[in-house]
Amino acid sequence: MSATANFMDVNDPGMAVITGASSGIGESFARILSSQGFDLVITARRENRLESLASELEEKYSINVKIVPGDLSQTEFMEEFASSIEPIENLDVLVNNAGFGTLENFIGKNSKASAFMKMINLHCGATARLMHAALKPMQKNDRGVIFNISSIASLLLHGSREPMYHSTKAFISAFTEMVQLKLNFIKSKVKLKAICPGNTHTEIFGPTKIATPGKFGGPMTPEEVVHISLDSYKNNDIIVITGDHNIEEVVEWKEINYKKHGRYFSKNFTKSGLYKKL
Ligand SMILES: NC(=O)c1ccc[n+]([C@@H]2O[C@H](COP(=O)([O-])OP(=O)(O)OC[C@H]3O[C@@H](n4cnc5c(N)ncnc54)[C@H](OP(=O)(O)O)[C@@H]3O)[C@@H](O)[C@H]2O)c1
Repeated sequence: MSATANFMDVNDPGMAVITGASSGIGESFARILSSQGFDLVITARRENRLESLASELEEKYSINVKIVPGDLSQTEFMEEFASSIEPIENLDVLVNNAGFGTLENFIGKNSKASAFMKMINLHCGATARLMHAALKPMQKNDRGVIFNISSIASLLLHGSREPMYHSTKAFISAFTEMVQLKLNFIKSKVKLKAICPGNTHTEIFGPTKIATPGKFGGPMTPEEVVHISLDSYKNNDIIVITGDHNIEEVVEWKEINYKKHGRYFSKNFTKSGLYKKL
């Protein structure tokens, strides 16, 4: 790969905006996109991490990195950040990656609403607001890609899992697909991807960054997730499940659930024979 080779295969890589770039998958996107010649705007709450990443990447790859520290679950900062990216004329990439998990139990006696509301604001609110902003320059240029970091959780609606994490990720996958279908309708060349990783070694599992394997394999490294994401630019897949082991888990779950009474079919429906046809 020459110094300027990049996943979009363009001669003039533009700007990439990455949320949650202070660690994990977002930091890997920053490292890999800067190595491909993209200038960066990076955001997260931990300013010191952004500062050291920015100076390292600027020196290593002779690109420009702007840091914008802040909390994207707060409406004021979300608006401020969105307004700052809308005027970026050469915006090629948006990575909506900032996210978190919670050990709170939504139906627990002492559970607090604040963690769940923060998750809705960050996973759903910020993702949608920044997509809206980024689509302005991208549609004007008829070029660009938005990677929304969802999860296989968006496709696995287990009763044993945390409902808000899975449901907000389900929003990300569904919304990405709906907006891409709208763009396809007007024959836009802008691409949207809902990236669905399974367990990946990052700080979402704590400072040790050790994720446990899924039922069929894994975990992955953040770099593997980023390479699969960037490779998906070449195809028209919208929901991108990273890795065969994760695909197997989703397929198994869907197969079990489409046959399960009480989830998709009422008794009357199953009597009508529709269940058998499926
Ligand atoms: N690791 C996995 O197994 C896995 C699997 C599927 C999907 N994902 C998704 O991948 C994305 C990245 O997570 P990760 O695994 O790389 O974990 P991570 O290392 O903990 O990274 C999360 C990033 O989000 C930022 N962030 C969190 N809350 C924020 C807020 N309120 N405002 C702004 N930035 C915020 C964090 O930065 P600051 O703390 O500095 O703000 C950090 O940079 C998340 O959306 C996660 O749901 C992860």
